[in-house]
Amino acid sequence: MSHAEDHEGTRRDFLYYATAGAGAVATGAAVWPLVNQMNPSADVQALSSIRVDVSGVSEGSQLSVKFLGKPVFIRRRTPEEIEAARAVDMDALPDPLSQNPNKPGTDASDANRAMDDAGEWLVMIGVCTHLGCVPIGNGAGDFGGWFCPCHGSHYDEAGRIRKGPAPRNLDIPVAAFVDETTIQLG
Ligand code: FES
Repeated sequence: MSHAEDHEGTRRDFLYYATAGAGAVATGAAVWPLVNQMNPSADVQALSSIRVDVSGVSEGSQLSVKFLGKPVFIRRRTPEEIEAARAVDMDALPDPLSQNPNKPGTDASDANRAMDDAGEWLVMIGVCTHLGCVPIGNGAGDFGGWFCPCHGSHYDEAGRIRKGPAPRNLDIPVAAFVDETTIQLG
């Protein structure tokens, strides 16, 4: 190959790449505004799913966060709470369903309401299923769980309605661990 041919080949390659590069940029610029308009706005995305760091939640305490405009209770239960919740006779439960969208159609056993197999984590929407007050937690009420003072609904250690006018167990949000210390809601 002569020196002249070599030079020509290099120049052609350069032109080819330069043209391809310009085309890619132009296409990108034309497509982006359309794609951007079709995406939900940033604040809607932020609301539909949140991640909660639970590394600071000690055993026997509860973290409350706001999600989709409602309080969500994230409780790290003690072994005693788990044991008590698991010892409950299913016939004693006014609402026999888990109300857990992560395990749809399942019964209200404690295992079906807890997040993890060991039952340490219980995540629930903190809204009374009667008329929407926020129940008091940390072992309140006659069943060691939550108590709604508005009309006297008592929920047990698994957030299941046991006494009072509330028709359903406390609802559970779509939730999952994304790593050992982070729970994603939604
Ligand atoms: S709103 Fe909770 S008992 Fe009525």
